[in-house]
Amino acid sequence: MFITFEGIEGTGKSTQIALLKASLEAAGRSVLVTCEPGGSRIGAELRRVLLSLENRDLCARAELFLYLADRAQHVAQVVRPALGAGQVVLCDRFADSTVAYQAYGRGLDAELLHSLNALAVDGLWPHLTILLDLDPETGLTRAVARNTAEGKTVAEGRFEAESLAFHTRVRQGYQAWARRFPERIRTVDASGAPESIAAAVLQLVETHLNA
Ligand code: TYD
Repeated sequence: MFITFEGIEGTGKSTQIALLKASLEAAGRSVLVTCEPGGSRIGAELRRVLLSLENRDLCARAELFLYLADRAQHVAQVVRPALGAGQVVLCDRFADSTVAYQAYGRGLDAELLHSLNALAVDGLWPHLTILLDLDPETGLTRAVARNTAEGKTVAEGRFEAESLAFHTRVRQGYQAWARRFPERIRTVDASGAPESIAAAVLQLVETHLNA
């Protein structure tokens, strides 16, 4: 099973992925945790280019193709082999991030980006996508605090440096896309305690695993 996690900055995706991994492993499943951008060796190089504050001059179309390149490589080299080996794959961000950030955030066409995503994923769409929904004020405050604590403000701060208006559009994009794919994308309120969010996530995953 291929499960992706989506949401704006600071929604607690990595915390929830770690908690879900522990629950699934306790139930005897083999789990691979991965992420975009940067889930493959080549992707790690693309990630550095994509997130560095030094690259504020990266234009929207070039940014788009770098994310798509990262995705194509990641699917071919990491995700598809792991699923083939029977692992559950948990991925921190995937194709829906491109629609939310590059279409709704940057202003590129969402349907065109959906087609380009289809090319990049080569038939491998997630079985389930957990959208952690949170208001951007809260999310950004959390994300900036975390980045400062980890000392990666310059290395990985390009999106945190975007305006509140940008992140509001991204959130609205996610919500619109969740309405477009209601079977696959399930929204979870990310404002509560991590444990209660984890319980809601686990319930969605178990429903899908049993289906
Ligand atoms: P990441 O470290 O995953 O962010 P966070 O920990 O805040 O979730 O950084 C990925 C950044 O790249 C994030 O700001 C969203 C952006 N992004 C896109 O704009 N398009 C994409 O297709 C993907 C995968 C990520």
